[in-house]
Amino acid sequence: MSATFDFSNKHVFVVGGTSGINLGVAAGFARWGAKVAVASRKQEKVDAAVAYLQSLGADAFGTVFDVRHAEEVEAGFAKVSAFFDAEIDVLISGAAGNFPARVNQMSANAIRSVLEIDLLGTFHVMKASHGYLKKPGASVINISAPQAFLPMSHQAHVCSAKAGVDMVTRTLAIEWGKDGIRVNSIVPGPIEGTEGMDRLAPTAEMKEGVRRSVPLGRQGTVDDIANAAAMLSAPQSSYISGAILPVDGGWSQGGATSIMANLSSMLDKMS
Ligand code: HXC
Ligand code: NAP
Repeated sequence: MSATFDFSNKHVFVVGGTSGINLGVAAGFARWGAKVAVASRKQEKVDAAVAYLQSLGADAFGTVFDVRHAEEVEAGFAKVSAFFDAEIDVLISGAAGNFPARVNQMSANAIRSVLEIDLLGTFHVMKASHGYLKKPGASVINISAPQAFLPMSHQAHVCSAKAGVDMVTRTLAIEWGKDGIRVNSIVPGPIEGTEGMDRLAPTAEMKEGVRRSVPLGRQGTVDDIANAAAMLSAPQSSYISGAILPVDGGWSQGGATSIMANLSSMLDKMS
């Protein structure tokens, strides 16, 4: 990753930032000079992520909370604020859960789990953050998914949750505009080496099918998403708010729907 952005003296909080794409985003901001905080449910993941971010030279902090519980999220923001001793310049909200299952295979609790993590969790994070965000100037980014606008078999819970996440983004772009806070969504495509893709395409054959279905001919990397988050948060993007930005090599314009239909029949055989 080239050092093309400068976030020195900036304060960046990544919720769900302890693995995969979100940790990659936190690492990007760490390399670009930011003071960084991360949060998720598991203490060991938080500790490992903080150690990794510190190894990149960042002043880093971690706290444990479950985005499903509003009071835990509020307490987490208070701790992060005390660590930063400053307002939050960039907030990334990316905690999510997923497993492939048809609607008929999901219990009420299974559906509730994903809706509570992805959609309700986004509400809780947004609400808890407002008092701590830099006004004017903060950049808020929700991590969405192509499922938000492409129906996919085995993904009804994620499709409906992420569609809701994007509407939270668009609504807050209106409500928080007067505070000078910009709110956008990044829609990652298939990102290599992540939990999300391992769950949807667990075999090498399935991963190769996904790669072929991307117009640019490759899966994305966590650095691709970090670069997009930095671009959206840079001062040069100060007029971008309410955008839903695919960072997916063109996957959601063609390829995503057909490959997911193929994967569905393979997932059925595996279950
Ligand atoms: C049917 C399932 C299931 C499956 C779990 N459940 N897996 N049902 N098929 N494969 C059901 C359980 O039986 C239970 O219902 C309910 O879901 C909750 O499960 P728990 O394990 O008790 O929940 P919890 O410990 O809270 O874990 C939440 C989770 C888990 C979402 C189920 O997978 C998780 O923690 N995920 C976080 C990591 C993750 O998913 N990362 C990928 C994000 S990728 P019952 O009725 O039995 O109680 C993403 C989009 C990727 O978001 C897009 C790629 C293009
Ligand atoms: P991941 O590694 O599983 O990341 C999920 C993160 O959220 C982890 O840090 C996890 O840590 C945390 N988390 C999960 N449930 C939580 C909860 N209830 N409260 C607080 N934190 C929670 O998955 P990923 O594949 O990198 O996905 C990251 C984001 O990108 C998600 O929003 C996903 O929807 C989106 N996305 C991924 C892809 C892809 O190709 N992977 C494509 C499109 C969109 P703990 O387990 O410690 O809680």
